[in-house]
Amino acid sequence: MPLVTSKEMFKKAYEEQYAVGAFNVNNMEIIQGIVDAAKEEQAPLILQVSAGARKYAKHVYLVKLVEAALEDSNLPICLHLDHGEDFEICKSCVDGGFTSVMIDGSKLPFEENVKLTKQVVDYAHERGVVVEAELGRLAGIEDAISVAERDATFTDPDQAVEFVERTNVDSLAIAIGTSHGAFKFKGEPMLDFERLEKITNLLPGYPLVLHGASTVLPEFVELCNTYGGNVAGAKGVPEEMLLRAGKLGVCKINIDTDLRLAMTASIRKHLHEHPEDFDPRKYLGPAREAIKNMVKHKIKNVLNCSGKI
Ligand code: G3H
Ligand code: 13P
Ligand code: ZN
Repeated sequence: MPLVTSKEMFKKAYEEQYAVGAFNVNNMEIIQGIVDAAKEEQAPLILQVSAGARKYAKHVYLVKLVEAALEDSNLPICLHLDHGEDFEICKSCVDGGFTSVMIDGSKLPFEENVKLTKQVVDYAHERGVVVEAELGRLAGIEDAISVAERDATFTDPDQAVEFVERTNVDSLAIAIGTSHGAFKFKGEPMLDFERLEKITNLLPGYPLVLHGASTVLPEFVELCNTYGGNVAGAKGVPEEMLLRAGKLGVCKINIDTDLRLAMTASIRKHLHEHPEDFDPRKYLGPAREAIKNMVKHKIKNVLNCSGKI
């Protein structure tokens, strides 16, 4: 099966009220762990590559590894650029075999974000590639944040409609209180579901994207902390909030931090228990297995997309 775009994946996800997992990949073990999980669960899958991943592993290696995953799994897989910051990197991924790119103009003023996104959409659509954009800035809701501050940072529902109409972008990442990394909330986790519902009601049938959506599983935080690491105070988005978002038009849920934590926890534990080991396969094998089990858990309990290929 060739790589697919996310178009059909999102259509089905929207209609059946679940989300597709978009997992960040940086090397072979991460790709294999994720793909093995999706294969066992028969789940649709987005593998995403950041600029940092391209720099670390090289574009060609990642594309070839994903091609191998397609052959091995026979799953519908979409290969996506995560957080493309300019036209050039999007063009390079469109030309270099990706089926989806994100142009992240969220730091730009509205008009500049529209212009840049439109430029990428025009280029990508002519070549059969879909585009994700972002409107609003990711930040956790802190207890003390005022309504005015929230309005200034989070996605404005009316602007979202104007943005989609003017750019013709295929999906939109919105800011409703999630943030990247392992430390998402200082106090109680909170997402602005009222805002999400407004956006969904104004854009019926339109696929929304949630970045910064790792749950930061306590099991891995604890393992990291037990075996010499320090990620004390790490806190993610609770699973029930992600499930709720998946029923409200969020069709793509981005996960990177949970992969990092699962992999690192497993390696820390293994090397602590087997200080004599120096064969990378001895600790990367269990790390790959930890990723697989974690992704299976996500597919079943957070994304709700088991069997949805
Ligand atoms: O949102 C960003 C992703 O977690 C990728 O992170 O730029 O360190 O590869 P990275
Ligand atoms: P997490 O840091 O919550 O995993 O978010 C990843 C992400 O949004 C990648 O674009
Ligand atoms: Zn992101």
